[in-house]
Amino acid sequence: MRVDATASIAKDRLVVALDVPTVAQARELAAQLRGNCRWVKVGLELYLATGNAMVEELAAQGFSVFLDLKFHDIPNTVAGAVRSAALMGASLLTVHAAGGPAMLSAAAEAAAALPNAPRLLAVTVLTSMDRTHLAAIGIEISAADQVLRLARMAIASGIQGLVCSAEEVRLLRQELGEGAQLVVPGIRPAGAAVGDQKRIATPADAIRAGASQLVVGRPITQAADPAKAAQSILDEIASAMLSNSM
Ligand code: C5P
Repeated sequence: MRVDATASIAKDRLVVALDVPTVAQARELAAQLRGNCRWVKVGLELYLATGNAMVEELAAQGFSVFLDLKFHDIPNTVAGAVRSAALMGASLLTVHAAGGPAMLSAAAEAAAALPNAPRLLAVTVLTSMDRTHLAAIGIEISAADQVLRLARMAIASGIQGLVCSAEEVRLLRQELGEGAQLVVPGIRPAGAAVGDQKRIATPADAIRAGASQLVVGRPITQAADPAKAAQSILDEIASAMLSNSM
Protein backbone atom coordinates (compact mmCIF):
# COMPACT_ATOMS: atom_id res chain seq x y z
CA MET A 1 0.00 0.00 0.00
CA ARG A 2 1.37 3.47 -0.87
CA VAL A 3 2.12 5.79 2.02
CA ASP A 4 0.06 8.79 0.75
CA ALA A 5 -2.95 6.57 -0.08
CA THR A 6 -2.67 5.04 3.37
CA ALA A 7 -2.64 8.48 5.02
CA SER A 8 -5.86 9.37 3.16
CA ILE A 9 -7.58 6.09 4.08
CA ALA A 10 -6.46 6.56 7.70
CA LYS A 11 -8.63 9.71 7.80
CA ASP A 12 -11.72 7.57 7.24
CA ARG A 13 -10.70 5.42 10.18
CA LEU A 14 -10.62 8.09 12.89
CA VAL A 15 -13.80 9.48 14.42
CA VAL A 16 -13.32 12.35 16.86
CA ALA A 17 -15.91 12.37 19.65
CA LEU A 18 -16.93 16.01 20.14
CA ASP A 19 -17.99 15.50 23.76
CA VAL A 20 -18.26 19.19 24.68
CA PRO A 21 -21.24 21.09 26.11
CA THR A 22 -21.52 24.24 23.97
CA VAL A 23 -21.88 25.35 20.36
CA ALA A 24 -18.81 27.57 20.78
CA GLN A 25 -16.58 24.71 21.95
CA ALA A 26 -17.85 22.39 19.20
CA ARG A 27 -17.23 25.07 16.56
CA GLU A 28 -13.73 25.73 17.87
CA LEU A 29 -12.83 22.03 17.81
CA ALA A 30 -14.37 21.58 14.36
CA ALA A 31 -12.32 24.53 13.07
CA GLN A 32 -9.13 23.01 14.53
CA LEU A 33 -9.84 19.55 13.11
CA ARG A 34 -11.15 20.52 9.64
CA GLY A 35 -8.71 19.38 6.98
CA ASN A 36 -7.09 16.78 9.27
CA CYS A 37 -10.19 14.80 10.21
CA ARG A 38 -13.22 13.64 8.19
CA TRP A 39 -15.40 12.09 10.86
CA VAL A 40 -16.83 13.63 14.01
CA LYS A 41 -19.13 12.07 16.55
CA VAL A 42 -21.97 13.96 18.20
CA GLY A 43 -23.03 12.25 21.38
CA LEU A 44 -25.61 12.93 24.05
CA GLU A 45 -23.78 15.82 25.72
CA LEU A 46 -23.37 17.95 22.61
CA TYR A 47 -26.66 16.91 21.01
CA LEU A 48 -28.76 17.77 24.06
CA ALA A 49 -26.98 21.10 24.44
CA THR A 50 -27.09 22.17 20.80
CA GLY A 51 -29.73 20.07 19.02
CA ASN A 52 -30.20 19.28 15.36
CA ALA A 53 -28.59 22.54 14.24
CA MET A 54 -25.11 21.39 15.33
CA VAL A 55 -25.43 18.11 13.40
CA GLU A 56 -26.64 20.00 10.33
CA GLU A 57 -23.83 22.55 10.65
CA LEU A 58 -21.09 19.91 10.93
CA ALA A 59 -22.51 18.00 7.95
CA ALA A 60 -22.70 21.25 5.94
CA GLN A 61 -19.02 21.89 6.76
CA GLY A 62 -18.21 18.59 5.04
CA PHE A 63 -17.75 16.36 8.09
CA SER A 64 -19.29 12.92 8.07
CA VAL A 65 -21.33 12.90 11.25
CA PHE A 66 -21.69 9.92 13.53
CA LEU A 67 -24.76 10.66 15.68
CA ASP A 68 -24.24 8.51 18.74
CA LEU A 69 -27.50 8.66 20.66
CA LYS A 70 -27.64 4.89 21.31
CA PHE A 71 -31.34 4.39 20.62
CA HIS A 72 -33.02 1.84 22.91
CA ASP A 73 -36.82 1.88 22.89
CA ILE A 74 -39.76 -0.01 21.40
CA PRO A 75 -39.35 -0.91 17.68
CA ASN A 76 -41.78 1.71 16.34
CA THR A 77 -40.13 4.53 18.30
CA VAL A 78 -36.61 3.52 17.25
CA ALA A 79 -37.65 3.29 13.58
CA GLY A 80 -39.00 6.85 13.81
CA ALA A 81 -35.82 8.04 15.53
CA VAL A 82 -33.70 6.58 12.70
CA ARG A 83 -35.79 8.48 10.11
CA SER A 84 -35.52 11.76 12.05
CA ALA A 85 -31.74 11.38 12.52
CA ALA A 86 -31.25 10.75 8.79
CA LEU A 87 -33.08 14.01 7.98
CA MET A 88 -30.41 15.92 9.97
CA GLY A 89 -27.64 14.57 7.75
CA ALA A 90 -26.16 11.97 10.11
CA SER A 91 -24.18 9.26 8.25
CA LEU A 92 -23.79 6.80 11.10
CA LEU A 93 -26.16 6.04 13.98
CA THR A 94 -26.08 3.80 17.03
CA VAL A 95 -28.72 1.56 18.52
CA HIS A 96 -28.30 -0.61 21.62
CA ALA A 97 -28.10 -4.29 20.67
CA ALA A 98 -29.69 -5.02 24.06
CA GLY A 99 -32.95 -3.62 22.58
CA GLY A 100 -33.39 -7.06 21.00
CA PRO A 101 -34.08 -8.48 17.51
CA ALA A 102 -37.44 -6.77 16.86
CA MET A 103 -36.06 -3.33 17.70
CA LEU A 104 -32.90 -3.92 15.64
CA SER A 105 -34.85 -5.15 12.59
CA ALA A 106 -37.22 -2.17 12.79
CA ALA A 107 -34.22 0.19 12.85
CA ALA A 108 -32.54 -1.59 9.91
CA GLU A 109 -35.74 -1.56 7.84
CA ALA A 110 -36.35 2.13 8.57
CA ALA A 111 -32.79 3.01 7.48
CA ALA A 112 -32.94 0.85 4.33
CA ALA A 113 -36.08 2.65 3.15
CA LEU A 114 -34.37 6.08 3.19
CA PRO A 115 -32.79 7.77 0.14
CA ASN A 116 -29.51 8.61 1.93
CA ALA A 117 -29.62 5.65 4.26
CA PRO A 118 -27.42 6.15 7.33
CA ARG A 119 -25.38 3.14 8.39
CA LEU A 120 -26.39 1.59 11.67
CA LEU A 121 -24.09 0.31 14.37
CA ALA A 122 -25.21 -1.79 17.29
CA VAL A 123 -23.62 -1.00 20.64
CA THR A 124 -22.77 -4.25 22.36
CA VAL A 125 -21.22 -3.73 25.82
CA LEU A 126 -20.12 -0.21 26.81
CA THR A 127 -16.34 0.02 27.11
CA SER A 128 -16.78 1.48 30.61
CA MET A 129 -18.23 -1.88 31.74
CA ASP A 130 -16.29 -4.93 32.86
CA ARG A 131 -17.35 -8.29 34.29
CA THR A 132 -18.21 -6.77 37.69
CA HIS A 133 -20.49 -4.17 36.10
CA LEU A 134 -22.17 -6.84 33.94
CA ALA A 135 -22.78 -9.00 37.02
CA ALA A 136 -24.41 -5.98 38.72
CA ILE A 137 -27.07 -5.91 35.96
CA GLY A 138 -27.62 -9.67 36.09
CA ILE A 139 -25.31 -10.78 33.25
CA GLU A 140 -23.12 -13.53 34.64
CA ILE A 141 -20.91 -14.13 31.59
CA SER A 142 -17.70 -12.46 30.46
CA ALA A 143 -17.81 -9.18 28.54
CA ALA A 144 -16.40 -11.01 25.49
CA ASP A 145 -19.15 -13.66 25.55
CA GLN A 146 -21.84 -11.01 25.98
CA VAL A 147 -20.40 -8.96 23.09
CA LEU A 148 -20.39 -12.04 20.84
CA ARG A 149 -23.95 -12.94 21.71
CA LEU A 150 -25.22 -9.41 21.03
CA ALA A 151 -23.12 -9.10 17.87
CA ARG A 152 -24.54 -12.27 16.30
CA MET A 153 -28.06 -11.13 17.12
CA ALA A 154 -27.52 -7.65 15.68
CA ILE A 155 -26.03 -8.89 12.39
CA ALA A 156 -28.83 -11.47 12.05
CA SER A 157 -31.29 -8.58 12.51
CA GLY A 158 -29.82 -6.61 9.57
CA ILE A 159 -27.48 -4.17 11.37
CA GLN A 160 -24.27 -3.56 9.35
CA GLY A 161 -21.78 -2.89 12.08
CA LEU A 162 -20.94 -2.97 15.73
CA VAL A 163 -19.40 -0.87 18.43
CA CYS A 164 -17.09 -2.98 20.55
CA SER A 165 -13.94 -2.64 22.65
CA ALA A 166 -10.47 -3.41 21.34
CA GLU A 167 -10.49 -6.53 23.50
CA GLU A 168 -13.26 -8.11 21.43
CA VAL A 169 -12.43 -6.77 17.99
CA ARG A 170 -10.15 -9.65 16.97
CA LEU A 171 -12.76 -12.20 18.00
CA LEU A 172 -15.54 -10.34 16.18
CA ARG A 173 -13.40 -9.92 13.05
CA GLN A 174 -12.79 -13.70 13.01
CA GLU A 175 -16.45 -14.42 13.70
CA LEU A 176 -18.01 -11.90 11.27
CA GLY A 177 -15.40 -11.67 8.48
CA GLU A 178 -13.90 -8.68 6.67
CA GLY A 179 -17.26 -7.16 5.67
CA ALA A 180 -18.41 -6.15 9.15
CA GLN A 181 -17.86 -2.54 10.22
CA LEU A 182 -16.25 -2.71 13.66
CA VAL A 183 -16.05 0.64 15.46
CA VAL A 184 -13.90 0.78 18.57
CA PRO A 185 -13.98 3.41 21.34
CA GLY A 186 -11.85 3.25 24.50
CA ILE A 187 -8.74 4.22 22.53
CA ARG A 188 -5.79 5.64 24.44
CA PRO A 189 -2.44 6.50 22.85
CA ALA A 190 0.45 5.25 25.00
CA GLY A 191 0.74 7.44 28.11
CA ALA A 192 -2.72 9.11 27.78
CA ALA A 193 -5.09 9.39 30.77
CA VAL A 194 -7.47 6.42 30.94
CA GLY A 195 -10.40 8.29 32.59
CA ASP A 196 -13.52 6.13 33.08
CA GLN A 197 -12.71 3.66 30.28
CA LYS A 198 -11.91 0.06 31.23
CA ARG A 199 -11.21 -2.02 28.12
CA ILE A 200 -8.71 0.19 26.31
CA ALA A 201 -6.09 -0.15 23.54
CA THR A 202 -3.66 2.05 21.66
CA PRO A 203 -4.69 3.17 18.14
CA ALA A 204 -2.11 0.86 16.54
CA ASP A 205 -3.17 -2.19 18.55
CA ALA A 206 -6.87 -1.63 17.75
CA ILE A 207 -6.16 -1.30 14.00
CA ARG A 208 -3.91 -4.37 14.01
CA ALA A 209 -6.65 -6.31 15.81
CA GLY A 210 -9.09 -5.54 12.96
CA ALA A 211 -10.93 -2.32 13.88
CA SER A 212 -12.58 -0.51 10.94
CA GLN A 213 -12.81 2.84 12.73
CA LEU A 214 -11.57 4.21 16.05
CA VAL A 215 -13.55 6.63 18.21
CA VAL A 216 -11.30 8.99 20.14
CA GLY A 217 -12.58 11.70 22.45
CA ARG A 218 -10.60 13.14 25.36
CA PRO A 219 -7.10 12.29 24.08
CA ILE A 220 -7.86 14.75 21.24
CA THR A 221 -10.48 17.14 22.63
CA GLN A 222 -8.61 17.78 25.91
CA ALA A 223 -5.17 18.01 24.32
CA ALA A 224 -3.40 21.37 24.37
CA ASP A 225 -3.32 21.14 20.56
CA PRO A 226 -6.24 18.97 19.30
CA ALA A 227 -5.12 19.10 15.65
CA LYS A 228 -1.64 17.87 16.59
CA ALA A 229 -3.06 15.12 18.82
CA ALA A 230 -5.38 14.00 15.99
CA GLN A 231 -2.53 14.01 13.47
CA SER A 232 -0.35 11.90 15.73
CA ILE A 233 -3.18 9.33 16.04
CA LEU A 234 -3.70 9.41 12.25
CA ASP A 235 0.03 8.73 11.77
CA GLU A 236 -0.19 5.80 14.20
CA ILE A 237 -3.25 4.42 12.32
CA ALA A 238 -1.45 4.75 8.97
CA SER A 239 1.66 2.94 10.28
CA ALA A 240 -0.48 0.11 11.69
CA MET A 241 -2.31 -0.16 8.33
CA LEU A 242 1.00 -0.41 6.50
CA SER A 243 2.29 -3.09 8.89
CA ASN A 244 -1.04 -4.99 8.49
CA SER A 245 -0.64 -4.96 4.69
CA MET A 246 2.94 -6.31 4.75
O1 C5P B 1 -13.12 10.41 25.64
P1 C5P B 1 -13.17 9.00 25.13
O2 C5P B 1 -12.11 8.71 24.09
O3 C5P B 1 -13.21 7.98 26.25
O4 C5P B 1 -14.57 8.94 24.37
C1 C5P B 1 -15.12 7.74 23.88
C2 C5P B 1 -16.40 8.03 23.17
O5 C5P B 1 -16.92 6.79 22.70
C3 C5P B 1 -17.47 8.67 24.04
O6 C5P B 1 -18.17 9.59 23.21
C4 C5P B 1 -18.38 7.51 24.44
O7 C5P B 1 -19.72 7.91 24.60
C5 C5P B 1 -18.24 6.60 23.21
N1 C5P B 1 -18.51 5.17 23.44
C6 C5P B 1 -17.83 4.41 24.38
N2 C5P B 1 -18.13 3.09 24.53
C7 C5P B 1 -19.07 2.51 23.78
C8 C5P B 1 -19.75 3.26 22.80
C9 C5P B 1 -19.43 4.60 22.67
O8 C5P B 1 -16.94 4.93 25.05
N3 C5P B 1 -19.30 1.21 23.89
